[in-house]
Amino acid sequence: MKITVIGAGNVGATCAQLLANAELANEIILLDVIEGIPEGKALDMYESMPIFESDSRIYGTNDYAKTKDSDIIIQTAGLARKPGMTRDDLLVKNADIVNACIGSAFEYSPNAFYIIVSNPLDVMTYVALRKTGLPKTKVIGMAGILDTARYRSFISMELGVSMQDIQGMILGGHGDTMVPLTRFTTVAGIPVTDLMSKEKLDAIVARAAGGGGEIVKYLKTGSAYYAPAAAAVQMVESIVKDQKRIFPCSVLLDGEYGYNDVVVGVPCVLGKNCLEKVLELNLNDDEKALLENSVVHVRETIEEAKKLLGM
Ligand code: 2OP
Repeated sequence: MKITVIGAGNVGATCAQLLANAELANEIILLDVIEGIPEGKALDMYESMPIFESDSRIYGTNDYAKTKDSDIIIQTAGLARKPGMTRDDLLVKNADIVNACIGSAFEYSPNAFYIIVSNPLDVMTYVALRKTGLPKTKVIGMAGILDTARYRSFISMELGVSMQDIQGMILGGHGDTMVPLTRFTTVAGIPVTDLMSKEKLDAIVARAAGGGGEIVKYLKTGSAYYAPAAAAVQMVESIVKDQKRIFPCSVLLDGEYGYNDVVVGVPCVLGKNCLEKVLELNLNDDEKALLENSVVHVRETIEEAKKLLGM
């Protein structure tokens, strides 16, 4: 297993480290345009492998040739938000960056699976799909696991119970227009609505939707990376170990939920073939309306990206 992480910033470097610590690949390539940073971070991680008792080998580079024949490419390069910015404010710069990075990576690894992490997430996943021409099963975006993890952690905080017992599913675009399926949220199998008032749950949903922004406000110069990296690595783990876990991931819809030619988060089965199945849920009218709102928003931004890139 060879995995390339494009972007040696906070998200990329944290991904590489988590992949290596868990020995999810024999070879991990950390690539960045900035000279020295990927080499230095990768060597530092390499030197930590005896302590983590892992035999993953991590190499830093500026050269896409070194990524040749990767099995999985994780795209993290791109600008992060600063306070007051929305993810869509990153579109102009990140569309160019993602288009260029994915184009170069694809030249050397046409058979890889691509996991997109750069923002605005759903739109960047669409750009990567179009740039590579790969089927929807091989290009997927990380967002839903992150949004759901925030939601689950806030429920755990509120109830004072284990994180592990909280299950939730979130659909739609990444962040503000996400669609939390509160009626499918359970705590050890008990509907969360039996354990918490609607007001409390609504407040948690709102905090999860604004969860990325909450971190940006604290960090000031960038956005979250521990949870985003952990989420991307959980997707990799399900693929590498063929676990067939069910996660919300951003994927191209062609008919599912009644939509075509748009990327949004839906429940997916991830296994050795990457996206193996999209699960279609029977949504109620309120959920359908929220998903529609999310799709309309993502579609508009996809159209802007297409214009910018002449796609
Ligand atoms: C977040 O939600 C960076 O979009 C990412 O924190």
